[in-house]
Amino acid sequence: MEGFQLIATGAGIPSRIVTNDDMSRIVDTSDEWITTRTGIRQRRFCAEGEDAGSMAIEAARQALANSGLDPARIGCCLCATIAARYLTPTNACLIQQELGLPQDIPVLDINAACSGFIYGAAVARGLLASRNDPARPYALVVGCEQLSRLMDMTDRSTCVLFGDAAGAAIFKLSDGPFAVDLGARGDMAIKVPEGGPIQMDGSAVFRFAVDALPRSLHTVLQEAGLTLDQLDWVVCHQANSRIIDHCIKKLKADPAKFYKNMDRYGNTSAASIPVALHELAESGRLTPGMRIACIGFGGGLTWGGMVLTVGPRPTAQE
Ligand code: ACO
Repeated sequence: MEGFQLIATGAGIPSRIVTNDDMSRIVDTSDEWITTRTGIRQRRFCAEGEDAGSMAIEAARQALANSGLDPARIGCCLCATIAARYLTPTNACLIQQELGLPQDIPVLDINAACSGFIYGAAVARGLLASRNDPARPYALVVGCEQLSRLMDMTDRSTCVLFGDAAGAAIFKLSDGPFAVDLGARGDMAIKVPEGGPIQMDGSAVFRFAVDALPRSLHTVLQEAGLTLDQLDWVVCHQANSRIIDHCIKKLKADPAKFYKNMDRYGNTSAASIPVALHELAESGRLTPGMRIACIGFGGGLTWGGMVLTVGPRPTAQE
């Protein structure tokens, strides 16, 4: 089986909403500057009692419930993150314990910054293929970031951009079109030392992103033997609305296919793509048989693109 199917999604969204006006009371900025430069209107920060672990567990719990699967059917569990609750146990191990996933499966965190969810999905697909266990044919992949604890709240050039969230997806091997494109270019344009804060050369990252995004989308479309017209959705990392607009312009694409939700969450790094997938699924806009492309880019610098299909909810016999 060459393809990869998205079976179910979930999200763990923290409760504290922080608007651009709230940010303008912390640093010298304005709703007008943030909205026009980035498309971000608000973000979520973890409130008391919420953290990277609780968000990841909630997202994974929702994805498992939405799949209707018994936890015993999960063949690997990965969490993409640069900001887990602990260095060890990993976020993925916290999820495994809380959800009662099997013990004889690979469970690990993975760090590829904002491309982490695509890297995680690609690694999960490889693990499912190499283990080839008919009893456990599903992968649980989570993207989770608590970036609020890594931000310098006096640096207006970064603190207005990021937010906290987790998203999760359950995948299985399938027939159907598939392609993956992963890459990295060691570069200090985004640097996060142990404990923070996030340091970023915004315009260097912007230049990288407007090149990497359309290039990776083009690569995976070519490899999957599809045209942009044959895709139902393109779900990009939600860093900046203008980066996605550049890609749309470069590829002369239909803007309606490019999902955007950074207005409500800001840049949530590895969580942004699975949260977007979950919003599409919850609102009935992801239906079985659809073809989607997901494209991430970010710290490392890294990028990752994937073409996959939307699968049906498993039946009781599956
Ligand atoms: N409010 C008001 N003014 C600001 C703010 C702010 N929050 N931040 C910066 N400014 C000022 C700057 O000081 C500068 O002022 P000056 O001209 O007087 O020096 C001016 O605004 C312009 O700053 P630029 O950095 O040139 O603004 P730009 O239009 O490039 O937008 C931004 C900055 C939004 C960061 C953009 O470069 C961007 O989105 N970059 C990509 C970031 C990204 O995609 N990151 C993804 C990966 S993150 C990860 O992997 C963890």
